[in-house]
Amino acid sequence: MKMIFKSHLLLFLPVCILSLAACNQPAKQSSTSTMTDSTTQATLPAAKGFEQTIDGKQAHYYILKNKNGVQASFTNYGAHLVGLLVPDKAGKLTDVVVGFDSIAGYKTSLSAYYGATIGRYGNRIAKGHFVLDGRRYDLFINNKPNTLHGGQKGFNDVVWDTKQVSDTAITFSYLSKDGEEGYPGNLDCKVTFELTKDNAIKISYEATTDKNTIVNLTNHSYFNLNGAGSGTILDHIVQMDASNYTPIDATSIPTGKIEPVAGTPFDFTKPATIGSRINDNNEQLKNGTGYDHNFVLDKHDLTTPIATATGDKSGIEMQVFTTEPGLQFYSGNFMKGGNTMHGGAKDELRTAFAMETQHYPDSPNKPQFPSTELKPGETYKTVTIYKFSAK
Ligand code: BGC
Repeated sequence: MKMIFKSHLLLFLPVCILSLAACNQPAKQSSTSTMTDSTTQATLPAAKGFEQTIDGKQAHYYILKNKNGVQASFTNYGAHLVGLLVPDKAGKLTDVVVGFDSIAGYKTSLSAYYGATIGRYGNRIAKGHFVLDGRRYDLFINNKPNTLHGGQKGFNDVVWDTKQVSDTAITFSYLSKDGEEGYPGNLDCKVTFELTKDNAIKISYEATTDKNTIVNLTNHSYFNLNGAGSGTILDHIVQMDASNYTPIDATSIPTGKIEPVAGTPFDFTKPATIGSRINDNNEQLKNGTGYDHNFVLDKHDLTTPIATATGDKSGIEMQVFTTEPGLQFYSGNFMKGGNTMHGGAKDELRTAFAMETQHYPDSPNKPQFPSTELKPGETYKTVTIYKFSAK
């Protein structure tokens, strides 16, 4: 049976399940599944809030489910990862991704990029311009004085096509037109989310262009491994295989230097809680209002995790693998409690963190950083895996 359901099926599914239960099961045997305690299990948002026409295109809601009961939900609006249910150390399904119940929620919080696919350029480009092949390109300045996550209407705010659907994988595609948001070249993008047998979300990005351009795609999920809405992430334990990072100026643009983390609050080469040094008197922490920095990964070939985060209460561990050279570690410093999320909690300060795998911010203006240029005939290909277990 296909485990991926389009929203209209989902709308009917609870009704069907309820009817079946009513007809065939005594009430006390309300569940024959492996769930341990249905009253405390987290749930995914319903499909209803995601059925909408935007810019003339239909947005839908999709659920992937593997044989272990892990579930991930998505909308093709912004190719968002909406929710992700994984078991905690007691086997209780826990939603580790902070998300909304509807597209309206995502629309009103556009500057936060909850769960979104980010493009054409993840993170900042200084002062909203760059030079490529001797020509200057101007972008929309949406994060003064810089461009952040694509510009005014990034890939998080467009409806993607859903080209391929299987029980545990879904592919979204989007053609970003030549000149869209100021970037050169028609960029044909694909992002595939796969829910693996070993409880990982594998994200594969692909893009091609018909003119020289720049590209840096990422996913901006906000994780709380104790469960969305369960309080701050300050006691989460984090470890990153990054001996260096890229310090930033007061506008969060890398200075261009690559500096060792040793002896600084940025040293997560050994496990440390997010909160243990976040309030240290440190210029870089001030510039980022906490952690909001690109970590230079020692290795990035999918063979070993580049980062691990553990929820102190749930025991849920997330390992991150990537082919990308950088990891933007963001400690939710600009969360202000202004949004009500799925489950009812507000998005209070530092109640989630992001680990955005990508090339370094402002690379188009920093020739010393790995290049983000893409030429006709080349295929941009990157893979990131977020793998979950609990103990
Ligand atoms: C950026 C932050 C920003 C956040 C949400 C992160 O990737 O580095 O500065 O506030 O995204 O937009």
